[in-house]
Amino acid sequence: MASVERRILVTAALPYANGPIHIGHLVEYIQTDIWVRFQKLRGRRCVFICADDTHGTAIMIRARQEGRSEEALIAEMSAAHQRDFAGFDIAFDNYGSTNSDANRRLCGQFWTALRQAGLVVEREVSQLYDPQAGTFLADRFVKGTCPKCGATNQYGDSCDKCGATYSPSDLIEPTSVLSGARPEIRAAKHLFVELEQLHEFLETWTQSGEHLQAEVANYLKGHFLNEPLRDWDVSRPAPYFGFEIPDSPGHYWYVWFDAPIGYMASTAEWCARHGEAFDDWWKSDDAEIHHFIGKDITYFHTLFWPGMLRAAGYNLPAKVHIHGFLTVGGEKMSKSKGTFIKAETYLRRLDPAYLRYYYASKLGPRLDDLDLNIEEFVNKVNADLVNKVVNLASRSAKLIQDTGLSEVYPDDGGLFANAAAAGHEIAAAFDACDYSRATRLIMELADKANAFFDMQAPWKLKADPAQSQRLRDVCSIALNLYRQLAVYLAPIVPRLAQQTAVLLNAPIAHWNDAQTPLAGTPLAPFQHLMKRLERKDVDAMIEDSKEGAPAATPNAPPTAAPAAVAATATTSSTTATTTATTTGATPPAAPAVDSDAALLAEPLASQITIDEFAKVDLRVARVLAAEDVPEAKKLLKLTVSLGGEHKRTVFAGIKAAYRPEQLVGRLVLIVANLAPRQMKFGLSEGMIVAVGPGEKEVFLLGVDSGAKPGQRAH
Ligand code: 2FM
Ligand code: ZN
Repeated sequence: MASVERRILVTAALPYANGPIHIGHLVEYIQTDIWVRFQKLRGRRCVFICADDTHGTAIMIRARQEGRSEEALIAEMSAAHQRDFAGFDIAFDNYGSTNSDANRRLCGQFWTALRQAGLVVEREVSQLYDPQAGTFLADRFVKGTCPKCGATNQYGDSCDKCGATYSPSDLIEPTSVLSGARPEIRAAKHLFVELEQLHEFLETWTQSGEHLQAEVANYLKGHFLNEPLRDWDVSRPAPYFGFEIPDSPGHYWYVWFDAPIGYMASTAEWCARHGEAFDDWWKSDDAEIHHFIGKDITYFHTLFWPGMLRAAGYNLPAKVHIHGFLTVGGEKMSKSKGTFIKAETYLRRLDPAYLRYYYASKLGPRLDDLDLNIEEFVNKVNADLVNKVVNLASRSAKLIQDTGLSEVYPDDGGLFANAAAAGHEIAAAFDACDYSRATRLIMELADKANAFFDMQAPWKLKADPAQSQRLRDVCSIALNLYRQLAVYLAPIVPRLAQQTAVLLNAPIAHWNDAQTPLAGTPLAPFQHLMKRLERKDVDAMIEDSKEGAPAATPNAPPTAAPAAVAATATTSSTTATTTATTTGATPPAAPAVDSDAALLAEPLASQITIDEFAKVDLRVARVLAAEDVPEAKKLLKLTVSLGGEHKRTVFAGIKAAYRPEQLVGRLVLIVANLAPRQMKFGLSEGMIVAVGPGEKEVFLLGVDSGAKPGQRAH
């Protein structure tokens, strides 16, 4: 059991300063904030650190295009980010910036340590250069014709049409998206960290079973650690917005070098404000570092960052908690559909508690993607938070407004004790980041409390003065059971806990506040706790989010960069939060490697040639709709998308194994060139690929997120 003295330092990924916070980002910040609030409620010393990630080409170009300094741009974005986070009750203990003196100093320290360890090497790198804009071009700043399929207007790293990956110099007719100029190839010095020298250490650290989710450890082993680790290019030649490398004038640390060090610089600021020693948090056996990140930036946090910390002699992360991406209605967020919802737009229409609760109810300890389904969102918030929780308080508080709680907590048949005992299991679920389990357990308690209240029908007792004590007792029990729910839900919906404290005249300051019932306390005049979530408000928010919708408020921060820059928001690093959070555009963490030996139940088919295999056109497809075919014993009717307007109807014999709602949004593999088959229920235009003997034992083949509908399996 952890002692109260243990110091827990928690970070969420530093958002880029080149775009607004949106609901995709919020998955992580809400997840992390819940964990931090839970730890604090348990009485632990926990500090929540974040900062804006401010460096790189994208910021530089955007500032240039807007005719202002990078500093002015990042100051404005930082204010907007902090305003949005506060609006969602995300309570950082310190919010810094990677463009700070503290960060520059720490980067220097890391650099010296890496140099001294003999980990830095110098090499020439040839890269495309825009002679007009006077800058080297990262992959996403170049567009041209795909060298493989001939599709025009493709980025420098991969083709959206055929999925081919290549280097920007392979593009046919390349142009710079900054100026439209034809880029030329130029060589420049780059500095690299030889990560391979740390291979053994990284192997041990990642595979220890202690710091990473099992699927992440397996992914790293299968994708990176099974071969020599590539050198990491940590410098960029001028012009670049960042820190100049002291021993290499004209060269700057790459944004991904100084970004994670920003966690430490922000901690240093917090320490200075609180009279704490920095080393107690980053160089102490009593401290634990927990990073929360999305799966798109796994590589940086599980290989580079531990390597850097190791070389510089700092604490390694106790745990890197990695989550999946957000989809909305099973699809990536879309500006045209209005599902690319900015935090600011959400907050103009809806209570942040709704999204906090909904995300919590869907978040587990694994890396699964999380889908925001609008209908489910509305139903779940109203059924759980409003009907089961808040209404319990309002119904009972109104009945005993004048008398307050009974002087002695009445006999409730063990209900309170049962819910108090459940606190252990709920706490374990929070600690393990299994919030979906935590909310389920809490709602089970809410069901029991409501069943008690309804059975006692206290509203009937109100009319009879002889029953006044009984009325007071029943409502006191209900309000105490409600308070337990409010304590357990406090990490998720902190405002409700505060309102509950006011209503019942008793603070909610510790998890153990759910262990002892209140008696004899007066009630504050009842104030409305939470209103129902109305579908029309959600629809209005989606309308507001559609491209071309009028801007929010005159003071709103610039939310989108000019076209060219918005399109290249990925450039300063290998990933873009906006894209990656929603589409998994960068290497996704692979699912766990199954170590079970496969049973070769069916003899292998006779050998075929590659040309014969090529006749089978296997494509990634996304399930858009799934419905039962009531007249068929085994069939579900699926509508799948092969990208764009290409839709197919497929009847699949998977009814016993899958419920339709489990399928909507997921990627499957289909045989796209199978001759259509007329069935009794309609035309089936392809076949979904699955394994297993049949009935309940059918397993659809998964496709890692990041793949796009229409891509062909080779
Ligand atoms: O992917 C991103 O949004 C990065 N800005 C995250 C940086 S996290 C840390 F390393 F700084
Ligand atoms: Zn192509």
